Amino acid sequence: MKELRIGMLGLGTVARGVASMIRRNGQGIAHRTGIPLRLVRIATRNPGKTWGLNLEGVRVDADVDALTRADDVDVVVELMGGLDPAERLLLSALDHGKHVVTANKALIAERGMNLFETAQKNNRELSFEAAVAGAVPIVKAIRESLAANHIESIHGILNGTCNYILTEMRERGLSFDQTLADAQKKGYAEADPSFDVDGIDTAHKLAILSAIAWGTPPDFRSIHVEGIRRITDSDITWAAEMGYRIKLLAIAKRRDHGLELRVQPTLVTVSSMVSQVEGVFNAVFVKGDYAGTTMYHGRGAGEQPTASAVVADLVDLARNQGAGLASRVPPLSVMPQHLSPLPVHDIADLKCEYYVRLAVVDRPGVLAEITSILASHGISIDAIHQKGRAVSQEAVALVIVTHECLEKEMQASLAAMERLESVRGKPMVIRMESGLT
Ligand SMILES: NC(=O)c1ccc[n+]([C@@H]2O[C@H](COP(=O)([O-])OP(=O)(O)OC[C@H]3O[C@@H](n4cnc5c(N)ncnc54)[C@H](OP(=O)(O)O)[C@@H]3O)[C@@H](O)[C@H]2O)c1
Repeated sequence: MKELRIGMLGLGTVARGVASMIRRNGQGIAHRTGIPLRLVRIATRNPGKTWGLNLEGVRVDADVDALTRADDVDVVVELMGGLDPAERLLLSALDHGKHVVTANKALIAERGMNLFETAQKNNRELSFEAAVAGAVPIVKAIRESLAANHIESIHGILNGTCNYILTEMRERGLSFDQTLADAQKKGYAEADPSFDVDGIDTAHKLAILSAIAWGTPPDFRSIHVEGIRRITDSDITWAAEMGYRIKLLAIAKRRDHGLELRVQPTLVTVSSMVSQVEGVFNAVFVKGDYAGTTMYHGRGAGEQPTASAVVADLVDLARNQGAGLASRVPPLSVMPQHLSPLPVHDIADLKCEYYVRLAVVDRPGVLAEITSILASHGISIDAIHQKGRAVSQEAVALVIVTHECLEKEMQASLAAMERLESVRGKPMVIRMESGLT
């Protein structure tokens, strides 16, 4: 092979970064791979919109199907996003003998197995470093650098939009809605922000990381997912007064008979490293039995950081081709015959400490009603905070921090509290992870 010929699907944010990086850094890349990368084709919805890029020698059209079959393409780079038609196009590319590189976390997390099996059948590579945490090389780190470890846990901040919103709410004392609007204005949040703020994007990435860490098929549907819409500025202030910050965390733990997989707003101590990850940055912490905890931090999205990860996959591919290898590393780390699903624990079995915020009528006896509900579910209280902060004309905020207890007992208590005449609205509950790095 004299060069690696690339066909790209889509010409949006990430694709523009890939096109410019290959042109700008091409010579240095060729010195590292021995095989130059050459962008030969782009197929996208609006081929006339080329964003002022230098695309000399690149055929640009709207025929996405033809690109997946083209004789002059060795690898299809999918940067369109979405499940359909991306899945159909990548299956076609693999069946036509192309390797595939994608940044599409939704596709890998939800339909990945179909693609992995097709890649294996055709002896082609399917790479997806850019699908998790942008420039941060976390897929490679778990799959290769930590490959000899039993992974015990993974936790991290995998969505820059949510982390930006939570950071800004704390630093500027703004509400969720005000901060979201600001993030949208600055281009950090989509017009429809639900994938980000409802935790779906983080869960897609967690599904991919846990699959690689434990040699299981990606299992997005079994992840317990909560987003950050219900976090208020007063939660952030209460947390700060108690020595905590609120972060949207992806958490995966290997437990006795399966996995714990969850995405949730979480109180983490201000002294932890994860609490120091601010703004649009991402960070992942991986604990291996021999390596201990390692941390990976960087820009998790954006044109250039994401392009860096896509082109890194192309560099790997070129090096493999140079060495005469169709494929070197199994995409989910273990050999395909050793992939096996692990049961995922029900969230009801989770044990942790909780932060509970209630709006209560300010009169004698209310506290006793609430504490007796908690006691009847075997939940003991670590601290109660009530500073007479009015949340409405007739209610004040009450914050309770519990010792470790079972999620199902906490949920039963919350349901009982909601039924009390003295409690207004839905209680807010946030899990606490005091022991994180
Ligand atoms: N942006 C990031 O920071 C980032 C980070 C990590 C991973 N990713 C992933 O990378 C992928 C691309 O993201 P992006 O932000 O670059 O998206 P984007 O800016 O929306 O670009 C998508 C491109 O694909 C084209 N396209 C979409 N559907 C198409 C179809 N059915 N047929 C032909 N062309 C189609 C779009 O054309 P039109 O513009 O004409 O619609 C556009 O050129 C996604 O899977 C995303 O999850 C993105």
